[in-house]
Amino acid sequence: MVHQATTSAPVNIACIKYWGKRDTKLILPTNSSLSVTLDQDHLRSTTTSRADPEFTKDRLWLNGNEEEIKPGSRTHTCIAELKALRKTTVEDKNSSAPKLSTYHVHISSYNNFPTAAGLASSASGFAALVSSLAALYELPVSPKDLSIIARQGSGSACRSLFGGYVAWEEGSASDGSDSYAVQVATESHWPGIHALICVVNDAKKGTSSTSGMQRTVETSALLQHRIKEVVPKRMADISKAIQEKDFDTFARITMADSNQFHAVALDTTPPIFYMNDVSRGVIAVIEEYNRAAGKIKAAYTFDAGPNAVIYAPEENLKEIIQLIVKFFPQQAEFKDPFALFGGKLEGRVPEG
Ligand code: DP6
Repeated sequence: MVHQATTSAPVNIACIKYWGKRDTKLILPTNSSLSVTLDQDHLRSTTTSRADPEFTKDRLWLNGNEEEIKPGSRTHTCIAELKALRKTTVEDKNSSAPKLSTYHVHISSYNNFPTAAGLASSASGFAALVSSLAALYELPVSPKDLSIIARQGSGSACRSLFGGYVAWEEGSASDGSDSYAVQVATESHWPGIHALICVVNDAKKGTSSTSGMQRTVETSALLQHRIKEVVPKRMADISKAIQEKDFDTFARITMADSNQFHAVALDTTPPIFYMNDVSRGVIAVIEEYNRAAGKIKAAYTFDAGPNAVIYAPEENLKEIIQLIVKFFPQQAEFKDPFALFGGKLEGRVPEG
């Protein structure tokens, strides 16, 4: 009998940024965050897990290359948690269930987007890993429970277990039991919003999110203001804007939060620069586009790197792509404004 399961999970892009941990082992954040999960057809990780009594150790392949699973590593923690759940929720309750928790697993994960695209793959990667093991083990657990485990792989991964608009509630329990993702609205609630991903630079980032955010926690005074005074109100306001399909408020908060995240990165000692001149150029173009229209038609956001994500209602997409192409003359793939897949364009904006 073959014990194998395959699942996939999409990338998510935060509107309210997670940046800082209060517990680095359990991955408990210093503030709540909120993101949009991209749809399954576009950027996603697909993971197959297999348990077999013949396997001699747990092994993991990412895009075909084997990665070591070090004891105590995040991957190790996620696998151990899921094996323990298999034992307590399935095997201890049903003596005829195969003892999969005692078998080693082989896990193989692929991203359907270039790993070198500079887009975060840890969120979709850990969400897919956790959901494929949960399917393999036939765990009777909720996506909320799985998000608690995925969170220990990579914080932002907990949000990729849900589609649509997703909040990660920071929680207050020291064991992390109340720090998980919840769906604020389904994808069908507000379907007309698109994410345009502009690849400015596909190099691996200089300062990883993990080390960068801890340096910010240790050194930035501005982060304390952000955590206490800014994020709680923004979480409430953006959730309301999503419920009410209020793009103006959604976009204003998204842009302000991206800018504040990059401000706390700059307020870190030594300072961290994730955006470059092209990133700032994209900000200027979108700000001017909104100003000239007399209303907010698009919102930019940047994670821990220079690549831009532009959120916009479908009816504005063509105009925005034409603007980006005009100001950032491109390689052929980006020159064609119809080089869209399913309404989402992945283009490349050259540096300089
Ligand atoms: C800027 O989830 O990659 O994308 O928990 O250390 O794995 P770790 O960090 P990670 O950080 C993501 C930071 C961000 C903002 C966000 O996605 O909320």
